[in-house]
Amino acid sequence: MQRRLRRLAGWAAALASTALLIGAAGAQQKPAAARAASGPAPRAAAAAPASKPAGPNPYAQRFASVCAACHGANGRSDMPGTPVLAGQHAFYAITQLFLFREGRRDNPGMTAVAKTLTDDDLRGFSDFIETLPSVPPPAPTTPPDPARMSKGQALAQQHKCLFCHGTDLAGGQQVPRLAGQREDYLQASLQGFKSGKRPGYTQAMTEAVSQIAPADLDVLAYYVARFVAPAAAPAGKASAGK
Ligand code: HEC
Ligand code: HEC
Repeated sequence: MQRRLRRLAGWAAALASTALLIGAAGAQQKPAAARAASGPAPRAAAAAPASKPAGPNPYAQRFASVCAACHGANGRSDMPGTPVLAGQHAFYAITQLFLFREGRRDNPGMTAVAKTLTDDDLRGFSDFIETLPSVPPPAPTTPPDPARMSKGQALAQQHKCLFCHGTDLAGGQQVPRLAGQREDYLQASLQGFKSGKRPGYTQAMTEAVSQIAPADLDVLAYYVARFVAPAAAPAGKASAGK
């Protein structure tokens, strides 16, 4: 208990310093999205890194050269254990980059990259990530198991997953989007929150999974990975995915 309190106190300090980053991320959010929406930036290839965001976003290029190898060119990762970033929120992304940089969240590949990032980089990459349009998950090769899906749905209801992550699981602000995420990554994240391997930025997830059996976490990951938001359901339009 004592140790937990001390840890919380440490995080409160981290929270305060990230709050500054987040405030700035919020301020840059609109222009970044507007820029992305205003059309293609064909001059990207020749542009030198500029300090003013007048030309193409330098973080788009840095993402392509540094991050895309693992997270995919459009943020839709095909790599096991590597999260989809497309559609993720800037506020959430910046807190996670911060946790990696500070060594609180640990993954050899990701931590190595995060250690090289400045505060401006955390902001720049997070803002860029938010401009990557979310994509529906690839069509499943086999139809979802109805029993597993309904058990997952019941668990999600019981444990208020949709209450925080939204009825469409799209998240918002500091709460991550779950819709469209990879199953293996969801599974590892949930098990990580449960075992304490993955510390949250807040206690929200540690508490949310504390009463859930590990086997049920896998059912939740299965359900979430196949979740299709009621309104956005592209009814029966299964395309050739991989
Ligand atoms: C060597 C592969 C690799 C590279 C390169 C890499 N990442 Fe990651 N990244 C990962 C893995 C793996 C995870 C998940 C780690 C875990 O499960 O704890 C991750 C997690 C993340 C997360 C947290 C996502 C979430 O949903 O919680 C963000 C944000 C992120 N990376 C952004 C970036 C950015 C920005 C870059 C480029 C500057 C980058 N990554 C480069 C492998 C990589
Ligand atoms: C009280 C609000 C709350 C509840 C309830 C909640 N979550 Fe979360 N969830 C969060 C927040 C906030 C985060 C960001 C984690 C952090 O603090 O770093 C998160 C993170 C996650 C992640 C990691 C996503 C990523 O990209 O790495 C997964 C997976 C997840 N939640 C699934 C669930 C599931 C499944 C449930 C239901 C059992 C649930 N959550 C219930 C607030 C909540």
